Amino acid sequence: MTTAEKVGQLVQTGPSIVGAFGVSFEELLNMVFDGRISDEEFQRMMSESGQDYHEEILRQGGIGSYNGVTDPEVIRKLQRIATEETRMGIPLLFGSDVIHGHRTVYPIPLAESCAWDPQLWEKTARMAAKEASRDGITMTFAPMVDVAKDARWGRISEGAGEDSFLQSVFGAAKVRGFQQDDLRKPGTIVSCVKHFAAYGACEGGRDYNHVELSGERLYEEYLPPFAACIKAGARAVMPAFNDINGIPCTVSRKLLRDILRKELGFTGVTVSDSNAIAECVDHGAARDMAEAAKKALEAGVDIDMSSGVYAAQLTDLVEEGVIEKAVLDEAVREVLRVKYELGLFEQPYRFCSPEESPEKENRALCLESALKSMVLLKNNGLLPLQKNVKVGLIGSLAESRADMLGAWALGGRANDCISLKDALEEAGLPFVRIESDLSEVEDCDVILLAAGETKEMSGEAASRAVISLSQEEKGLIRALRESGKPIILILFNGRPLAISDAAPDADAIVEAWHCGCESGHALVKLLYGDRNFSGHLTTSFPNASGQCPVYYNHLNTGRPAGRGKFTCKYLDVETEPLFPFGFGLSYTEFEEEALEVQAENDILSVRWTVVNTGKRDGVYTAQLYVRDKTGVRACPVLELKAFSQVEIAAGKREEICFELPVQSLARYENDAWTIHHGTYEIFGGESSKKLIRAETEV
Ligand code: NOJ
Repeated sequence: MTTAEKVGQLVQTGPSIVGAFGVSFEELLNMVFDGRISDEEFQRMMSESGQDYHEEILRQGGIGSYNGVTDPEVIRKLQRIATEETRMGIPLLFGSDVIHGHRTVYPIPLAESCAWDPQLWEKTARMAAKEASRDGITMTFAPMVDVAKDARWGRISEGAGEDSFLQSVFGAAKVRGFQQDDLRKPGTIVSCVKHFAAYGACEGGRDYNHVELSGERLYEEYLPPFAACIKAGARAVMPAFNDINGIPCTVSRKLLRDILRKELGFTGVTVSDSNAIAECVDHGAARDMAEAAKKALEAGVDIDMSSGVYAAQLTDLVEEGVIEKAVLDEAVREVLRVKYELGLFEQPYRFCSPEESPEKENRALCLESALKSMVLLKNNGLLPLQKNVKVGLIGSLAESRADMLGAWALGGRANDCISLKDALEEAGLPFVRIESDLSEVEDCDVILLAAGETKEMSGEAASRAVISLSQEEKGLIRALRESGKPIILILFNGRPLAISDAAPDADAIVEAWHCGCESGHALVKLLYGDRNFSGHLTTSFPNASGQCPVYYNHLNTGRPAGRGKFTCKYLDVETEPLFPFGFGLSYTEFEEEALEVQAENDILSVRWTVVNTGKRDGVYTAQLYVRDKTGVRACPVLELKAFSQVEIAAGKREEICFELPVQSLARYENDAWTIHHGTYEIFGGESSKKLIRAETEV
């Protein structure tokens, strides 16, 4: 291969829009985001516009992969050019953000994590991979396994929440679902795990922001989910946009070579985030594009997504000897290896075979995931509803189909979604849609109020400083309260919301998230008790925006929050979160008894008994936490170490058993993992705030 052909393998590009609408494409995107044009208008404009796929550059061997091309016909055409009209005939990769479904959209990852069900997480990824591969996509930029403790960060919606262990289990399940155990199996796609690393620790929860992080926290909290995904076989990793302690991840040799490849044993391909190599100049970490290209490649970024910097700079830099040829060769080898592993050299079109659509059967899985993702946050006995009560349905989100898709549902279609109103209608349940005349509530028995966020209010570039309900929504709740009718608050949102001012006015609160195509069906089944709730939060809900970040596994101070004045707290906000990590109600109740721990042969055997004390069968989400009290170093007040779920019939009891390797208590200190020997507290329960405990020596 010539140097230029090698560089071409590292170039990932997307289609450019031809024929303008009088504004640039970026401006057009801004217009969708700020609501000047609707999603539908945008889609129409895009479908009417021409797309430039840079075919001439492709013919010259200047492109190795595309992102953002999802039309199987176009993919076939480009693949044909790559394999039949270029000198080397190397097939292309096609990447896309298949984050929570493709055509059939399941709940956003933050919601789905509330199911605490690794098998479900794997199944939905499998379903997405099948649909995406049928459309020609060979790589998904997922899962996002960024531990996210600050609800102001819009991208909290894209991962499994605030806990590193949960994020690890979630991420590994997704990788298995996307890739299976062999990329040559039908319907698999490469999983590109992101964003490496610590993107979720961005200062103030502001997207793309600087990250200041100690080595201990990086290793103990932010790297383990990546380690788990790599162990599960992930063949691609995306370096994060952010810097850590001043070094952008995109040019961090320590991160991308020493940690990712040497320590975590990653052998796949790295794909920069979009335009991130060029942005190293704005970071102040490269003087110009040439230096950005050199630093990124030498740091270990194989594929340049969308910045054009590798395309413009690398050939000259290698030919002039500024970059060693071996460094280029190594990157090219990573790209070719993944193409080979996918079987593309033998079957370049195996990913575009639009056979009969399996979307119908996929909806059943979507429904199941939505049922398990929604969380009952408050219930004063109003729920479940009787099927004859007359409901007053209020709030625009109650009939929005598009918003059920949530952030990053590129392949999804609003009209495939069932809104709450659709589902009530379909089930023939008595309700009135109340638009503006609130006096209509007089004729209703109960109010269903949908509030929260549209899909644009979370996801990338959607950080918010104030994460409460809007003033209008708050006013509405107060006005409705005066009617004296019971209120069920349904939250549709992509992040925890600070609703302590509205919560007391609601008789019941359901966290319905953005749960995809089957949102309305799932909600109606849960509200009317055809199905019991089983979801539990994977991120803490603050009382007020100013309480962010609030998370369960914080370190204690010398002055833990308490009644005394001189303790670690705010004067004007509760010290505890409004709803804690792990929390979720159901239509039954569980009580824990007699937690026991035995330490033997480097295993902690933990068991406790749970009794379903209510009148309905239910799912118990067993959560095992530890606290390191050895006194070597201040450690989190709680750390989740294991979880499982068990169905328990009304009145019955079950034994919960975990075998925890002592190794999982290791801490990262002085560049090594060590176990603190001494006393540990062990906790069991179904919420980080409702636990029974015992102590053990390790
Ligand atoms: C930017 C986002 O940070 C990343 O997560 C995504 O995969 C790429 N854009 C491609 O869309």
